[in-house]
Amino acid sequence: MANIGSLRLWAYGTVLAVLLLGVLNAPANIPGTNAPALATTCPAGFVLTGQSCRLDSPYLHYKSLESQGVGGLKTGLPAFRDGFSPKQIDLGRYLFFDPLLSADHSVSCAHCHNPAHAFTDGLAHSRGIGGRETSRNAPSLWNVGFLQKLFVDGRASSLEEQMQGPLYGANEMGNSREGLLAAINAVPAYRALFAQVFPDAASGIRSEHVYAAIAAFESSLVSLNSRYDLYANGILGALSPKEIEGMNVFRSFVARCAECHTPPLFTNQQIAVIGMPDGAGHSFDPGAEANTHVDSMRGGFRVPSLRNVELTSPYNHAGAFTTLRETVSFYTQGRGHAVPAQEKLNLHWHIWEPKLTDAELDRLVDFLKTLTDQSYMPTMPAAVPSGLPPGA
Ligand code: HEC
Ligand code: HEC
Repeated sequence: MANIGSLRLWAYGTVLAVLLLGVLNAPANIPGTNAPALATTCPAGFVLTGQSCRLDSPYLHYKSLESQGVGGLKTGLPAFRDGFSPKQIDLGRYLFFDPLLSADHSVSCAHCHNPAHAFTDGLAHSRGIGGRETSRNAPSLWNVGFLQKLFVDGRASSLEEQMQGPLYGANEMGNSREGLLAAINAVPAYRALFAQVFPDAASGIRSEHVYAAIAAFESSLVSLNSRYDLYANGILGALSPKEIEGMNVFRSFVARCAECHTPPLFTNQQIAVIGMPDGAGHSFDPGAEANTHVDSMRGGFRVPSLRNVELTSPYNHAGAFTTLRETVSFYTQGRGHAVPAQEKLNLHWHIWEPKLTDAELDRLVDFLKTLTDQSYMPTMPAAVPSGLPPGA
């Protein structure tokens, strides 16, 4: 009896210890607020170096990265925006999902860059506050930390500059700098969190703090672990014969896809005029001409990365194509076939008439689907400091 009793006591003790341990390990709230303590470890794919998170993707450990030349399978990665602290990244995650940032507190960044759609919204043209329609399709945010020019026409040169577009755009989040700062400073939990992350925010949260935290979170969205990457790293069984056939069409001098959609990001980050359509009911989009004021940039768009393209329908700057098959067949229908009659565009010389067969187009689609990888998907917060529904 005594033995069984002490056994029971031991069992209860163990359960109690496990429970206590659970409580101790759970992130404690910031005193006096409902704000959870911010992360002290880096997101997956990063390693803590001093105070900051450095990119440490398996991609960086591939052997003979430099030996294959541009366009080869094992090409090194372009410059990357890292060096943020774990807490900056985690604070940015709360801000990204918080509709408090919009004028009427109804629209967060995630409203149009929804993780469930690979950080897009599934619409041809995005819609912001009050359902107002924007003039373009929302690009995915996977790998934005590698992009030197942001927006589909490349008009912003940093994440901090870019985000002021949606924050203060009438058809997006409709806010003003003053409105944004007043709303964030009015939430005690945000004041506590920002003060933890940026010492000079103790006397008031400024827009630079908000931009830095969101940029930190965006830079954590890295996708370089696709089946294609395994193949490029010598795990040859990672792609099927049909997918390999598609890859070879993709990088052939007949299809020329890799000239612009250059590995490893599948974009050379250049503006190219290729003459894709704007979709029914939408007026002609002048693209990069509007911001560069260079005539030859009319209808020019930054070459999009094709990573995770399987998940980001509809396609192109206007969401004019629903399927990948439709999108890839654009390239075989004749140079300039979709350009409106009154437009004289300076089409890129790699856009020509490759006359790909139906089977080759199918293989291209097979290959594009090997670029899917969301293994570093961040967790959407269950609650955000404003108390509003996260992700709205
Ligand atoms: C109303 C929908 C909407 C909201 C809200 C929104 N975006 Fe966007 N986002 C878009 C659209 C549409 C584009 C493309 C616009 C363009 O290129 O002219 C875009 C482009 C971007 C880009 C450029 C990506 C690239 O490939 O160049 C980034 C980065 C981005 N958004 C981040 C954010 C962040 C951060 C927020 C919140 C502060 C936000 N967005 C809020 C719709 C939205
Ligand atoms: C001259 C450069 C160039 C070449 C060559 C090229 N592309 Fe593109 N591609 C672009 C640009 C620029 C866009 C964006 C156009 C727009 O938004 O209107 C694009 C868009 C796409 C898209 C849609 C991506 C998205 O997220 O909306 C796919 C898919 C695509 N290209 C695949 C291919 C394939 C497959 C080939 C080869 C048959 C190819 N591209 C050849 C420049 C190029």
